[in-house]
Amino acid sequence: SVGLLPEQIAEVPSVRELFVNDELAVADLLKESQTLPFVELPKVDLQWLQVLAEGWATPLTGFMRERQYLQCMHFGQLLDLKQKVAFVGEKDDGKEDSWPLTEDINQSIPIVLPITEDIKNSLNGANRIALKYNGQVFAILSDPEIFEHRKDERVCRQFGTNDPRHPAVAQVLDSGDWLLGGDISVVQKIQFNDGLDKYRKTPNELRAIFAEKKADAVFAFQLRNPIHNGHALLMRDTREKLLAEHKNPILLLHPLGGWTKDDDVPLDVRIKQHEAVISERVLDPEWTVLSIFPSPMMYAGPTEVQWHARSRIAAGIQHYIVGRDPAGIQKPGSPDALYETSHGAKVLSMAPGLSALRILPFRVAAYDKTVKKMTFFDPKRKDDFENISGTKMRGLARNGETPPEGFMAPTAWEVLAGYYKSLQNA
Ligand code: ADX
Repeated sequence: SVGLLPEQIAEVPSVRELFVNDELAVADLLKESQTLPFVELPKVDLQWLQVLAEGWATPLTGFMRERQYLQCMHFGQLLDLKQKVAFVGEKDDGKEDSWPLTEDINQSIPIVLPITEDIKNSLNGANRIALKYNGQVFAILSDPEIFEHRKDERVCRQFGTNDPRHPAVAQVLDSGDWLLGGDISVVQKIQFNDGLDKYRKTPNELRAIFAEKKADAVFAFQLRNPIHNGHALLMRDTREKLLAEHKNPILLLHPLGGWTKDDDVPLDVRIKQHEAVISERVLDPEWTVLSIFPSPMMYAGPTEVQWHARSRIAAGIQHYIVGRDPAGIQKPGSPDALYETSHGAKVLSMAPGLSALRILPFRVAAYDKTVKKMTFFDPKRKDDFENISGTKMRGLARNGETPPEGFMAPTAWEVLAGYYKSLQNA
């Protein structure tokens, strides 16, 4: 295996940001960019640029080249770079010690930049290309590599289906026939001026917050839905478990802020809902850090949940919560889940390249009518439980009704009900 010998193992930084910080260098790049061919990014690719720029996909230096793309699609890992991990164990003399090992880097989803045939032709073999959004230069891509975007083949691997009724599959199938890989230098912070930028923290900023709070453990919760008391149960339970070994475990409450499908609750409503959950102290503000994760959503189930966990390593977390059907979606045209609902947690618990993380898998939480609370589902008395789905919540809001007591913090429900009602009037 030439090329994969231990001598060639490079040390991977804990966070590799791709921002150019020097003002003069930024000015030079902006000046140069005026003479360069450019690619105008759709919003979803600006979000991927943000993911790369802030270091969530460390150690990637830009949009994937073909070699990285193939490693990711076929092995779910980046093989050219390995990370050093400390291994703790007993030496021959029985004393505990730690020594460095290396492991591959988990990368289960591609981070690529699709371009059309026309754009490809306009680039004219240039070695440096400006990346723009709304006409503004955000980055310079250098040393480009253009390769075929084999969309059907890609979606079958990434999503396990090429059904265009899956909204993220449709997004890929609608994108360009070529992929533009290359290193990127990002010349400005990526912000959206939607009133939520204060919640958009980079991995380094989050590390500083956890240090300031003197966290001795950080546990992350990825979500894209409003928080009900079942979600809160997972987070509170995790904190209790961690308190056996730690003094100050801090929760990274990390709603996904990139593209989501049309019938998901929009980010601004979710943030208001999360704020209400925190101010009602369902999650204690003392040990909760609310921040937005910039990645777009893919609804790729067990493939995507690895990305959700792996990307948060950059923010310095050590514990990752996973429950039922993470990054799941309904099978198009069916009431069933597309991915088997326990597979996400199972796959994550044995995924390669995640030795920095302790995975905390949870069973399904559901509304237990006998105690009027969200509890862990007990199949032996399944009639005691009620499933309160998004569709059901929508119906309740439409009729001016409230969900059963103990399902969600009341002020958080009001935020959600207001949103569902506004949909009805639109
Ligand atoms: S996700 O796309 O971000 O995974 P969602 O916001 O619904 O979707 O879920 C956030 C996390 O909570 C995931 O780890 C998911 O597995 C878990 N989860 C959601 N609902 C439940 C539930 N009823 N019981 C247990 N875990 C759940």
